[in-house]
Amino acid sequence: MKNSIITLAMSLSIVACTTTAKQSADVVADSFDFASKQLNYAFTAIDSAKANLTPEQIEKGVFTPRSFTKDGGLSLIASRDWCSGFFPGELWYMYEYTGDEAWRKKAEEFTAPVEKEKTNGGTHDMGFKVYCSFGNGYRLTKNPAYRDIILEAASTLTTRYNDKIGAIRSWDHHKDVWQYPVIIDNMMNLELLYAAFKESGDSTYYNIATNHALTTLKNHFRDDFSSYHVVDYDTVTATPRIKQTHQGYNDESAWSRGQSWGLYGYTMCYRETGLPEFLEQAKAIANYIGEHPNMPEDMVPYWDYNAPNIPDEPRDASAAAVAACGLYELSTYDKENGAKYKEWADKMVESLSSNYRATLNGDHGFLLLHSTGSGHGAGFEMDYPLVYADYYFLEALLKKAKLEKEGTAIL
Ligand code: GLY
Repeated sequence: MKNSIITLAMSLSIVACTTTAKQSADVVADSFDFASKQLNYAFTAIDSAKANLTPEQIEKGVFTPRSFTKDGGLSLIASRDWCSGFFPGELWYMYEYTGDEAWRKKAEEFTAPVEKEKTNGGTHDMGFKVYCSFGNGYRLTKNPAYRDIILEAASTLTTRYNDKIGAIRSWDHHKDVWQYPVIIDNMMNLELLYAAFKESGDSTYYNIATNHALTTLKNHFRDDFSSYHVVDYDTVTATPRIKQTHQGYNDESAWSRGQSWGLYGYTMCYRETGLPEFLEQAKAIANYIGEHPNMPEDMVPYWDYNAPNIPDEPRDASAAAVAACGLYELSTYDKENGAKYKEWADKMVESLSSNYRATLNGDHGFLLLHSTGSGHGAGFEMDYPLVYADYYFLEALLKKAKLEKEGTAIL
């Protein structure tokens, strides 16, 4: 009897392992299969939208998708938009997964127009624009021209750094309200600086990125490890003067994507520096997200963890996709909690793949529905597809595949 119970338990666990492995393999293969078809459809949707551009849009140089317009059309953006690097990045991820030169050609085509951003010192979004496009392109092709663009872009980004404050200035708008605004999102732009340090050997890049992360760690977080969206610094005293939100529910709430930017950002900073405080911060943010009482069962958060009408609030699929990327990598740095972090990330990507997928050959070629750009005030892009949700979803899938095959989630 005892033997047959052991045999049954062993068979069940073999079935469970096989099923889990099969599900894991399936979600990656199935999602990339869908993405392959849907991104080919996106090219058609982009061409149709381009056939109907206004003279202003032509003048601006719009070329790449961001979301839906208010009337349900495809919104195309120019390189200046903070989202211009994501669609090219998705095409690089397709090339990475498939090895198919046709994706490389398309990735090169959509990456090229972003080059002019390398000298745009008026924004902190350089990493989103240049690293998601040229950064992935350089990682996969070692094209020396891409390396030069990355270095020039990183050098431009450093012009926004103030050594006294120890942070990169995020925005130049609302000068009547803010003196030196720094947003949690800016953690994501540091990867470009670490890449420039590794390529050039110039420690200025490393120091600026690390100082920014340390300053943010000191001033952006509450005792529960949730983060403020915006911290405005006094330029004379170099101390925080305002802590508030711009895209979240209110100044004391936890804007979901902001929490994910922090998680991804500190995980990446730990990878690049080995500083234990960055690992501890990433773990604390991961636990805040994964154990939040308002996190739905499918692990795709509402747009703000404190949105007032939960559960009748829009979700933010992009917040789940970004968090999944961070969690996969973090799972490799924390032996004690790694399995838990991977389980959360798996739940996120499985939910996104099963229940948030856009219509094949519809939805203007986006991969995922139900993201939220901003729910603050009247809100914008609420419950829309967003190109960065798609980009980080593909990245999460690649990280998952690499982690399960090679034990590392570093692409
Ligand atoms: N600043 C980028 C975002 O909306 O998350």
